[in-house]
Amino acid sequence: MADSTPPSQETLSNLLHETRSFPPPADLAANANVKADAYDEAAGDRLGFWEEQARRLQWDRPWDTVLDWQPPFAKWFVNGRLNASVNCVDRHVANGLGERVAYYWEGEPGDTRTITYAELKDMVSQAANALTELGVTRGDRVAIYMPMIPETIVAMLACARIGAVHMVVFGGFSVDALGQRLDDSQAKLVITADGGYRRGKPSALKPAVDAAVADRPAVEKVLVVRRTGQDVEWTDRDVWWHDLVDSQSTEHTPEAHDAENPLYIMYTSGTTAKPKGILHTTGGYLTQASYTHWAVFDLKPETDVYWCAADIGWVTGHSYIVYGPLSNAATTVLYEGTPDTPHRGRFWEIIEKYKVTIAYMAPTAIRTFMKWGDDIPAGFDLSSLRVIGSVGEPINPEAYVWYRKHIGGDRTPVVDTWWQTETGAIMVSPLPGVTSGKPGAAMRALPGIVADVVDENGNSVPDGEGGFIVIREPWPSMLRGIWGDPERYKDTYWSRFEGLYFPGDGAKKDEDGDLWLLGRVDDVMLVSGHNISTTEVESALVSHPSVAEAAVVGATDKVTGQAIVGFVILRSGAEEVSEETVKALRDHVGASLGPIAKPARLLAVPELPKTRSGKIMRRLLRDIAENREVGDTSTLTDSSIMEVIAKQLPSVK
Ligand code: WT7
Repeated sequence: MADSTPPSQETLSNLLHETRSFPPPADLAANANVKADAYDEAAGDRLGFWEEQARRLQWDRPWDTVLDWQPPFAKWFVNGRLNASVNCVDRHVANGLGERVAYYWEGEPGDTRTITYAELKDMVSQAANALTELGVTRGDRVAIYMPMIPETIVAMLACARIGAVHMVVFGGFSVDALGQRLDDSQAKLVITADGGYRRGKPSALKPAVDAAVADRPAVEKVLVVRRTGQDVEWTDRDVWWHDLVDSQSTEHTPEAHDAENPLYIMYTSGTTAKPKGILHTTGGYLTQASYTHWAVFDLKPETDVYWCAADIGWVTGHSYIVYGPLSNAATTVLYEGTPDTPHRGRFWEIIEKYKVTIAYMAPTAIRTFMKWGDDIPAGFDLSSLRVIGSVGEPINPEAYVWYRKHIGGDRTPVVDTWWQTETGAIMVSPLPGVTSGKPGAAMRALPGIVADVVDENGNSVPDGEGGFIVIREPWPSMLRGIWGDPERYKDTYWSRFEGLYFPGDGAKKDEDGDLWLLGRVDDVMLVSGHNISTTEVESALVSHPSVAEAAVVGATDKVTGQAIVGFVILRSGAEEVSEETVKALRDHVGASLGPIAKPARLLAVPELPKTRSGKIMRRLLRDIAENREVGDTSTLTDSSIMEVIAKQLPSVK
């Protein structure tokens, strides 16, 4: 992620002053899984702490050494052996939890399935037998290009069970993106479906696989789940899931795998560079996914109903729909579709229907819900919720406060969780029974994690200052490398600051030492010698009642180096920002952050360009602000949006 170096010698200016704070509810604090003493305990004996967490899992052979650290290469739980699928499924059935619901699945058209742990065990065993029949063995890569259906999870666990490496590709990605990932990983099997439901209609998946595998002989077989029943082309390479898997035995004897056996590869999209195949292994990954899911959400597996609204095609889905929840024997909701199908209250309807107690979603979704209006969630009973989480981007303070109030009933803690594909699991987050949460802050490194904010030279900054977030010590779920490219691993993450992991994000420590994540350093603006975070200016803009969403970029400026250009979606829907509103917004930003942060220009847009995982693509907006031809738009949710924006802004020149 950190392909480029920070833009200047200055560290990030610390502009935002947020004073609101929400202490944990008393009953949650009293019964919390993790109490305040966990921080000191873990700091006193960090490796001992992680050993204790690893004992959450069932090991066939214990480890000899907790950590073998040959910077920047780590091995955790050396020589330990375990099976991730057994830990997620069989173990719970053996412990008498076979009848517990593992997943409540809700298809977009409203069809549902309830899958218990005992049923999941049978399904995973059958799929493992099927993969073996197809010649898949330990270390082989298996591509999974699927909708959000239970078979996707079954396929992942079947790979884990036999020691094959899964490589899930988001179902919204193009033929080229899929092909590139097949080439890089050299997968021999692709698991897909005829299609899935999106926005009220079947959306085909198989044609993209057909096109991608046509000239890729390394792919020997394509295993196809029937989900929508739509017509599909068929070749000798294709096998129906229901023909092959359903007839297999539900008995499968798992072997134990080395703790460092590769579990999966997840490609990070990057903006311009070739995607990086982030490699995660078994023992350390599962330990931290399991611990963080239990600690950060205060999970009570007997009573909670947990829902993470991410797609399984992202790391959030891997760690917090599959491996975290299943390793904790949780009951999880899995939803196939979009938030506005068939109506804009679909998420709240799901929470009401399943009495969801813990919900986890992205700020981009939260801002969309704000835009749709408070009356939509108000029409549903959300009183079952007790912890709500956010992930994927900095959450603007206004979005946080709205989420807490309108979804959390002014009652539930909001956990703003900072992490990355590369970190594998949550790194910085409030603990719901301990932390008094501040809107917009991820607050503090979790017990056992050593994060810091440093300046340009790698020196720790004092409280009250900004800089770059770094991780000082290895952690169990850290990436083990970039698939096939150890040099790139070193260059990208370990070369910026000697001996420190550099995630590529700007951050600040407030006066209390709490952490605020400020987005990618590539997005930081340099105005008159000050590094200013796009996140802070955007947060100030959306805290004004006339603005629904905002994105800001730094455009080259002769006088100030860069000038701040703000793109705003106005609540009124107006296509132009009136002079009066321009003045009001500039004054508002000036009052919240100081005059240096006032946007030089403000432009109204109908939509913002976002990646398929919901991140704003500021690079494209910078192209517009600097009157350049717009760059590569292939990872956008909707590539036509740039034309719409450009057309609406003839005045930019
Ligand atoms: C990047 C990682 C985390 C899994 C999903 C995204 C940004 C993520 C937060 C947060 C501020 C955040 C960072 C990070 N990010 N969560 N709570 N506050 N920024 O994984 O696609 O690998 O993206 O997302 O910039 O580096 P990813």
